[in-house]
Amino acid sequence: MTSEVTVRVPGKINLQLSVGPLQRDGYHELATVFQSVSLFDEITVSEIDKGIEITTDSKSNIPLDKENLAYKAAEIMKKKFDIETGLAIKIKKEIPIAGGMAGGSADAGGTIVAIDSLFSLGLKRDEMERIGSELGADIPFTIAGGTAIGTGRGDQIAPVLSRGSYNWVLALSSSGLSTPSVYKECDRLREGLDISKPFVSDSLLQALSHGDAKALGKALTNDLQPAACSLKPALRLILDVGLDYGALGGIVSGSGPTVAFLAEHEDHALDLVVALTSSGVVGNVIRVAGPVPGARVITGA
Ligand code: C5P
Repeated sequence: MTSEVTVRVPGKINLQLSVGPLQRDGYHELATVFQSVSLFDEITVSEIDKGIEITTDSKSNIPLDKENLAYKAAEIMKKKFDIETGLAIKIKKEIPIAGGMAGGSADAGGTIVAIDSLFSLGLKRDEMERIGSELGADIPFTIAGGTAIGTGRGDQIAPVLSRGSYNWVLALSSSGLSTPSVYKECDRLREGLDISKPFVSDSLLQALSHGDAKALGKALTNDLQPAACSLKPALRLILDVGLDYGALGGIVSGSGPTVAFLAEHEDHALDLVVALTSSGVVGNVIRVAGPVPGARVITGA
């Protein structure tokens, strides 16, 4: 057994997020298309005498206790597999916090994969995804990666045929949005409306299978976008600027506030970064590519 294992785990954007009505369990039925992008957290897990200790390099405040999904993931793995020693979890963050890119879920997914490797549990990927789904709807996809449809709460994953690589430009916000409050605002905005069953659009799936960035740009949709914009009106301005500067499409990612713009090719993405940065409406703009693989052990395997 190795003494520590490091896992690299990507953030995600939602190319489509179709939200059904609120259900009795407090969740909404979803039909979504996830894509993992090249922005990674690194999770290093090692054994200690007792307890679960989380440390981070992050300057932002992430919880270091039970509030952190990685802590919950370690707790559930210890219980399920009778792990008696304690666990130290180091989180190196690149994925924005509360940014709608599943950063917290990625840390939990990475912790599950790291513990599987550290203790040679020999779990299959779908078994790890099932454990993740007990803790949060986005966790299974952070383990799976690539491009996938998510149904149910977003936790039932099926891979999607996707050709080529896409160039994304992400406009990051300095302050986050809480996922439950965005869903609540979505319910408020849709009050009295007849909400149909969520679905994934054929045009989006076709665009992905043909590797057609222009068609993909037109097919991006997010039912949570009006709610995210209602809570953070500056997002409308950011979307307008990116589209004015020629992005093939622009969308709030998940519950926001990260905005993802699709570029035609790498040079176009660079132009968009310059345009968005100089517009003054966005603080931090980065370029990423997708799809990339899900959580992977990088050292200590
Ligand atoms: O599962 P997760 O902890 O990521 O979800 C956070 C919150 O987002 C839930 O408590 C719920 O308010 C909302 N949510 C939802 N429907 C989903 C997924 C999340 O309403 N399918």
